[in-house]
Amino acid sequence: MSNKSSSSDGASNIDTSGERAAKVGELLGMREFWSGQILHAGVKLGVFELLSDAPLAADAVADELGLEPAYCYRLLRALASLEVLETHDDRRFALSAVGELLQADHPDSLRDDVLFWRSPEYLRSALHLPAIISEGGTSGFAREFGCTIFEYAEQNRAFGAVFNGSQATPSQWMTPLVLGAFDAYEFGRVSHLCDVGGGHGHTLCHLLAEHAHLEGTVVHLPNVIDTEPDHWAGRLGVTDWCQYVVGDMFQTVPRADAYLLKFILHDWPDSECIEVLSTVREAAPKHCRVFVIERLVPEDGRSLAVTRADIEMMAVNDARERTEAAYQSLAEQAGWEFVQTRTQQDETLSVIELRMADA
Ligand SMILES: C[S@@+](CC[C@H](N)C(=O)[O-])C[C@H]1O[C@@H](n2cnc3c(N)ncnc32)[C@H](O)[C@@H]1O
Repeated sequence: MSNKSSSSDGASNIDTSGERAAKVGELLGMREFWSGQILHAGVKLGVFELLSDAPLAADAVADELGLEPAYCYRLLRALASLEVLETHDDRRFALSAVGELLQADHPDSLRDDVLFWRSPEYLRSALHLPAIISEGGTSGFAREFGCTIFEYAEQNRAFGAVFNGSQATPSQWMTPLVLGAFDAYEFGRVSHLCDVGGGHGHTLCHLLAEHAHLEGTVVHLPNVIDTEPDHWAGRLGVTDWCQYVVGDMFQTVPRADAYLLKFILHDWPDSECIEVLSTVREAAPKHCRVFVIERLVPEDGRSLAVTRADIEMMAVNDARERTEAAYQSLAEQAGWEFVQTRTQQDETLSVIELRMADA
């Protein structure tokens, strides 16, 4: 019989098993899980809005927000430990510079991210992962709520606002990558660019701002189109060249010279991807180009970021991340032909260009 201290490789074996345990602990992310829960409680209870003007004592925060004072103090203390609040000598609490980002009206607010990624809807979907892998098929979201997350966002507008806000955040750092991928693209051939499921229009409006001759259309579901203050056209001064149109990409999209499908196809199983690509093909003129913007699974499957995102897509949407070859195959089944892929920043983002197969 062997145990840790008597095994032939002795102390190094103890270290190895300790390191293995630490690795599992790290992967389980319990510290991050509870940090997230603490942030979520602070955001949900309105702490960051209340502290926007001046520091307050814990009792005053409890009083204003209707919280149990001793518990409120413990929450504020934990938020200060996470450095989203600062503690003053007299036990008053104030927002830190990071904490300001959790206020709803901050221009770079991450409040919706905290609310969505810790929402019961998202967490409950994730719990179905083992069943999904055993049985295949239906997503965790559909198992819990009987519809897709997009239908749910349409029916539950408060959830929809938070969901859409969280989906918009990555554009802050991804749009420069998209612009970089298009650096060498000859936009002279394009007059009208349509961003299908383009959200608040961060990507499209930045392209319109860079290419003065371009006009653009964002096609999206009503819960996004209805939220005009969030639209980027106004913020970037391109309202005269950018339309926001309610539409369903499974039904019809406007005619345009080129289409963006950015982080759209990874949300859907193959059959729905073919439907979307076919809808675009029906509307498109022969000279049209489609740009599928996604993060690609490398052929050898070695990418933690993408394989992890793939499982998230499986759990929430019964969808998947794909290799370049898989996207090419879907495109071909919908009547498109591969032109080229432009990849940015160590494969963080790829733009696959398609043209009509029989043009
Ligand atoms: C991952 S988000 C990407 C949003 C945006 N393209 C971006 O990159 O920020 C996928 C989007 O597809 C939208 N969507 C889902 N079903 C749609 C439909 N039938 N028609 C149009 N948009 C849809 C969702 O509302 C969601 O905002």
